[in-house]
Amino acid sequence: IPVDPFDLVIFGGTGDLARRKILPGLFRRFLAGQMPPSSRIIGAARSDMDAEGYRGMIREAIAEFGGDERDQSDQIEAFLTRLEYVAIDAMGDGGWADLAELMQRDVVRAFYFSVAPSLFGALAERLHVHKIAGPQARIVVEKPFGRDLDTARELNQTLAEHFDESQIYRIDHYLGKETVQNLMAVRFGNMLFEPLWNNHYVDHIQITVAETVGVGGRGSYYDKSGAMRDMVQNHLMQLLCLIAMEPPSRFEADALRDEKLKVIRALEPVAPHHIVRGQYEARGDEPSYREDAENPKSFTESFIAMKCHIANWRWAGVPFYLRTGKKLRARSSEIAVVYKDLGHSIFEGDEARHRNILSIRLQPNEGIDMQVTIKEPGPGGMRLVDVPLDLTFAEALGESGHEISDAYERLIMDVIRGNQTLFMRGDEVEAAWRWTDPLIEGWEARNDVPKLYEPGSSGPEDALMLMHRDGRRWREIKG
Ligand code: BG6
Repeated sequence: IPVDPFDLVIFGGTGDLARRKILPGLFRRFLAGQMPPSSRIIGAARSDMDAEGYRGMIREAIAEFGGDERDQSDQIEAFLTRLEYVAIDAMGDGGWADLAELMQRDVVRAFYFSVAPSLFGALAERLHVHKIAGPQARIVVEKPFGRDLDTARELNQTLAEHFDESQIYRIDHYLGKETVQNLMAVRFGNMLFEPLWNNHYVDHIQITVAETVGVGGRGSYYDKSGAMRDMVQNHLMQLLCLIAMEPPSRFEADALRDEKLKVIRALEPVAPHHIVRGQYEARGDEPSYREDAENPKSFTESFIAMKCHIANWRWAGVPFYLRTGKKLRARSSEIAVVYKDLGHSIFEGDEARHRNILSIRLQPNEGIDMQVTIKEPGPGGMRLVDVPLDLTFAEALGESGHEISDAYERLIMDVIRGNQTLFMRGDEVEAAWRWTDPLIEGWEARNDVPKLYEPGSSGPEDALMLMHRDGRRWREIKG
């Protein structure tokens, strides 16, 4: 889909996210021909430098984080000519007149707030005072969007003073992942799945987001968050919503977000014994969580597993098991819809419990497959075997099937196109905190101590028990 010429201002344009994700992603869009000739990217940050200095910085960022594209030096130079830079003081008035001057033209305007949330209010106000952002402008904000319901509400109110909800794009980069969108295509583009997508046929659903990295380097942020705030309240919640929501009448921003909101509101409170929190230990010379967080008494969780229920007709009685953690066996994220047993087998001697499992792999090897039961080939009689049926069709799609763009670049282009479908609405974020707050308060009040787990494992033993007690088991975490 073509895009109109745009000016994208990145506040925090020299920061980590801008250098690692945003600019390399935009470079790939440039290569894909999605940056119309007069479009510009304007870095804005405190550092005193000029556009040439900024281009040099981004040249290095693409060399470091640019993936396969980093060798295309001619194209990199062409891309860099689109970059401008303004030294700006978010809390004062320095630089704002320069930015206003630069932006005196009639193109799509987007402002990416890649800065600490404490600066959102100041930026919004300055954009307004200096008349840089009109009613057509869009702003993009990153997580963490608050650390509880009150702070999220305050942020929403601050932004609402100067911007309409239709101008605010709250990023959850999990919504930009290719298979997350494919999940909706599979669910709502086929006759085959939706009729079975309910408590008559589904036994349970598992969502796993496993990482191998620890929190070293960002311990001070992480120790105040933990896995619940850092991952569950946003990324896992969004995945849960897309799996559980009712079909929206159209694939359109508010229709979709209304349905997601209903899921969050229907989430039941989780009983303390259905939550397992973990913290990784040291291994060899690798530091423990507490060392990484530089907090020897930390009770923050680097792992969490929980069993949730959605109180509505579709899902009554179907548990949703969620887990996420750092320093686990493999980097592997997956949603698995596990169907019920057949209940009766017509094949003599077949005692295995065959189950269909629809698994949606977010990473690595993005893809979707369906475990089905077939006859084992050969003359040995009716012996049954479970095999995965690949639903990704990457082969069938040829080259384009392999062109998986990064979550950030896809979402940024959606901002330019003015499409909010894959962004969180303010009420959704608040509802998610309304559900997580009491759970966090609960374990804080109990002084709950996270269970230790070995790095490279699948988390604490208790997390396995959470499912074993129900006669179920987690899917293997494998890369
Ligand atoms: C971020 C979290 O939002 O998502 C990080 O703050 C986490 O702690 C990251 O590592 C995971 O993202 P991805 O795309 O690598 O799965």
